[in-house]
Amino acid sequence: MDLKIAVLPGDGIGPEISEQGVAVMNAVCEKFGHNVSYQYALCGADAIDRVGDPFPEETFEICMNADAVLFSAVGDPKFDNDPTAKVRPEQGLLAMRKKLGLFANIRPVETFDCLIHKSPLKDELVRGADFICIRELTGGMYFGEKYQDDEKAYDTNAYTRPEIERILKVAYEYAMRRRKHLTVVDKANVLASSRLWRQVAKEMAPQYPEVVTDYMFVDNAAMRMIQDPRFFDVMVTENTFGDILTDEGSCITGSMGLLPSASTGEHTPVFEPIHGSWPQAKGLNIANPLAQILSVAMLFEYFNLKEEGALIRKAVNASLDANVRTPEIQVEGGERYGTIEVGQWIVDYIKKA
Ligand code: IPM
Ligand code: MN
Repeated sequence: MDLKIAVLPGDGIGPEISEQGVAVMNAVCEKFGHNVSYQYALCGADAIDRVGDPFPEETFEICMNADAVLFSAVGDPKFDNDPTAKVRPEQGLLAMRKKLGLFANIRPVETFDCLIHKSPLKDELVRGADFICIRELTGGMYFGEKYQDDEKAYDTNAYTRPEIERILKVAYEYAMRRRKHLTVVDKANVLASSRLWRQVAKEMAPQYPEVVTDYMFVDNAAMRMIQDPRFFDVMVTENTFGDILTDEGSCITGSMGLLPSASTGEHTPVFEPIHGSWPQAKGLNIANPLAQILSVAMLFEYFNLKEEGALIRKAVNASLDANVRTPEIQVEGGERYGTIEVGQWIVDYIKKA
């Protein structure tokens, strides 16, 4: 298969993990005879510094012309601490999501048996937890009408029926391929937008008679996720709730550095880790490349290249079992491996497989 990939390394640890993602992609393509080419593009703080725009038109064009985007991370503290900044790196990410029509963000939450002890939750609670959060990504408060002066400010949480229908359809399709259990997470006891979500979900549920649909308020879902994470199979929720719940989800796995995601919708799909740019770690060769590498697995799987994805997952598991791990998940007394060494080990494993 021919694969044209747009690579957006971004800020902080982004370029370092991006390099390892690309190396793994190359190794897999070589092994399976795929013809891959890359176009690099600017985004985030790096793009603001160079061309004054966190998601420049040229980057948009490169993404539109690619089969998939391999995205790393954006964000820089120099913007976080300046409330007067007119442009922010995160706006680049939001612009990308909106302009590529990426309304469905797929965030799997899984556990790795050898890392169970890294979760702050009890072993017997998290062992075997395996669910997918489907986060709506181009609507809600993130993109609704906003206002701010010194006395008053608001964000609008607006959703239309077609926006809700299309994300629920994605969620039902995932549920059908998995354990056929969908949890619709909302705040229908308070929010009008949530009541419409629930109404639309109730209308759609009969089209998927094999799927058990349940409805849960977001506060309750946040509790259930850490009390009984194995309850969930597929959960679907609006943009803001999904943002919050997926950070919580990373505690089940044990490290933010392990969670990949896929964003799909109208145009080119984007594959990215759920973590941020961790600017403090930039250049230190300590960032975990696994979330990025697992995003590459999701990329192959998106194109139905299942064996390719499976080989990456196998290599990642083998690296963890061999204690080839970045410091945040390394065992006590374990050898020191950096971003580069972990990536290289996985590349070698794939080559030898
Ligand atoms: C995420 C991030 C982004 C979000 C930020 C960086 C804008 O937290 O992808 O979850 O809030 O969506
Ligand atoms: Mn987030």
